[in-house]
Amino acid sequence: MLTGYWYRALPSNHVSRGELQKAMLLEIPLVIGRDQTGKAFALRDACPHRGMPLSCGRFDGEQVECSYHGWRFEAQSGQCQLIPSLTADQNLKVDRIYAGNYACEERDDFVWVFIPDPGPASGGFSRREEPAAEAKFDVAPPHPHCRRAWRRRGPHRRLRPRRMRDQAAVTARRRTQIF
Ligand code: FES
Repeated sequence: MLTGYWYRALPSNHVSRGELQKAMLLEIPLVIGRDQTGKAFALRDACPHRGMPLSCGRFDGEQVECSYHGWRFEAQSGQCQLIPSLTADQNLKVDRIYAGNYACEERDDFVWVFIPDPGPASGGFSRREEPAAEAKFDVAPPHPHCRRAWRRRGPHRRLRPRRMRDQAAVTARRRTQIF
C-alpha cells in the first residue's frame, strides 16, 4: 500500500453540508462530510470508544455524534468534545481523545484525503499527522505503464496514455467517416 499520498475519496457533489458519506481508501473506512462553513473533512469511520461506525451517527454541521454512547467529536480535528456518561467526580480529559482524522482538501471537483505513513500505534486516540511540506498534494503514482506521462505532465493533469489517445483519435475518425 502506498501511504504518504493524497487519494481521491469522493466527487465533491456527493458530499453535502450536514450529511455523512462513507468511503474506503487503502482498506481504511472513512466518513466524509462537509461542515457548516462548507469545508470537507474526513474521519476514520470507527469511534475510538468501541469502534461503532461514526457514519451511523448524527452530524449537526460542527460535531459528529456517535450513535452508540453519544461521544461527540469536532468534525475537522476529530477532537472529542463530550462524553455524556461522565460524572462530575470523573476527571477524564476529554479533549485528549481524538477520532482518527485525516487531512482533507477539495480540488478538481473531488474530495482528496491524505493517508499518512503508519505511525506508532495510538489506538486511534491521537491527533492527526499533517502531510509534510514536500507531500503537499502529492498524489499516489499511477500504474507503471502510465508513469512516464505522469512524470512529464504532472500528477494533476488527466492521465491518458498515448495508446488510449491514439485509439480515441481512430474512433473519432471512424465516426466522422460513417456519419
Ligand atoms: S462506541 Fe462510540 S461512543 Fe461508544
